[in-house]
Amino acid sequence: MALHDSIRYENGTLMMDALPMADLVAKTGTPVYLYSLKRALHNLHAIRTAYSGLTVEVHYSAKANGCLAVLRALIQAGAGIDAVSAGEIHRALTAGATPQQIVFAGVGKTPDEIRYAVGQGVGWFNVENVDELHQLQQAATDLGRDAVPVALRLNPEVTASTHPYIATGHGGAKFGLTAEVIRHVLAHQAQYPRLRFGGLHVHIGSQLGDTAATVAAVSRAQELLAPYPALRMLNIGGGMPAVYRQGQALPAFSDFAAALRPLLRDYHVILEPGRAIIADAGVLVTTILYVKKQAGQTLYIVDAGMTELIRPALYEAVHEFVPLRSFEGNIHRAAQVVGPVCESSDVLGQEVMLPELRPGDRLAILTAGAYGMVMASNYNARPRPPEVVVTAQGNSAFVARARETWEDLLRGEV
Ligand code: LLP
Repeated sequence: MALHDSIRYENGTLMMDALPMADLVAKTGTPVYLYSLKRALHNLHAIRTAYSGLTVEVHYSAKANGCLAVLRALIQAGAGIDAVSAGEIHRALTAGATPQQIVFAGVGKTPDEIRYAVGQGVGWFNVENVDELHQLQQAATDLGRDAVPVALRLNPEVTASTHPYIATGHGGAKFGLTAEVIRHVLAHQAQYPRLRFGGLHVHIGSQLGDTAATVAAVSRAQELLAPYPALRMLNIGGGMPAVYRQGQALPAFSDFAAALRPLLRDYHVILEPGRAIIADAGVLVTTILYVKKQAGQTLYIVDAGMTELIRPALYEAVHEFVPLRSFEGNIHRAAQVVGPVCESSDVLGQEVMLPELRPGDRLAILTAGAYGMVMASNYNARPRPPEVVVTAQGNSAFVARARETWEDLLRGEV
């Protein structure tokens, strides 16, 4: 099981830091997301330690988990934010980030979003389109801003070892600019007098299975920057993986840092980790509603589904399930854990090894802190779940976001 110091059994009780999960969910009921700030801060620290000795800034990728309490904790610990929409910039500012601490990325920024971000004075624009440069130049002119910081996003034409839905660096992907276009833009920087070109951005995908493709991508970016010694900012994106299953062979933070270290010495480096910081700091707790034995299998029908956690349905992602109270010595059996949503893809886990459980028993779905709540939907008119945060000290908790209500679901409709 992908357990660790912050999420572990103590005398048969599943804990988040110093608190039994059973107590944490008592306040809100289920389904509910629980986050350990201690674990998220531990991960941030581990990433910084791996890259120590280099000039590295960590900009947490808010798309992975935008809970204000999570953002606040990471910002207070000195992290910047990687935002992909004006909404995320607004969220980051609300959580206490300064505009300069924010990088604004995204393949389809709208003119309004660009003006908003220029007006706020965000720290970096990761630009993926030549027309976007013109818009940025125009917004800067209209708003009387100078030296708007730009990193051009390179599509390095490398194939990341990950699920095809979350690979972004191959030729033909919608992301980034080709090397040819980047060469051209860099040779004509004077066409954009209100912009300051600082370097390049490259992000080849998420949940990366090796370091080699990242090294290749960074090398390509550096070839493009070689003629411009003044351009020494390199944003190498996110992508460092989380361990979803015990024993999974994945590169560690230290493996990425070791492979990249020789390349990064003379650069000001930005990292945009999302999953690596928050995935294993979060669980989704669900309650078994019904047990059905059918077609030779045991089905656990639970109160969470693809509306709360879409990763299994969308990416065939595998998450581990553990009961809130351990059942030592019981025979484990392969069961299917399914949600209540009217879709055959609403299966949270296949062939899950679990003890014989009864309605009312609770399960924690592990490694659900990243791309869980942020991708939750209201399909089937299901209110989105609450989020409970265990503080950095590990001994107290608060409801960071309430469960949505039926009234919330009707808001804005006539
Ligand atoms: N930077 C850029 C430009 C990105 O596109 C992403 C993620 C990140 C940073 C953060 O990547 P991370 O460190 O979290 O791997 N919903 C999918 C993941 C989508 C990732 C999108 N981009 C999932 O649940 O697996």
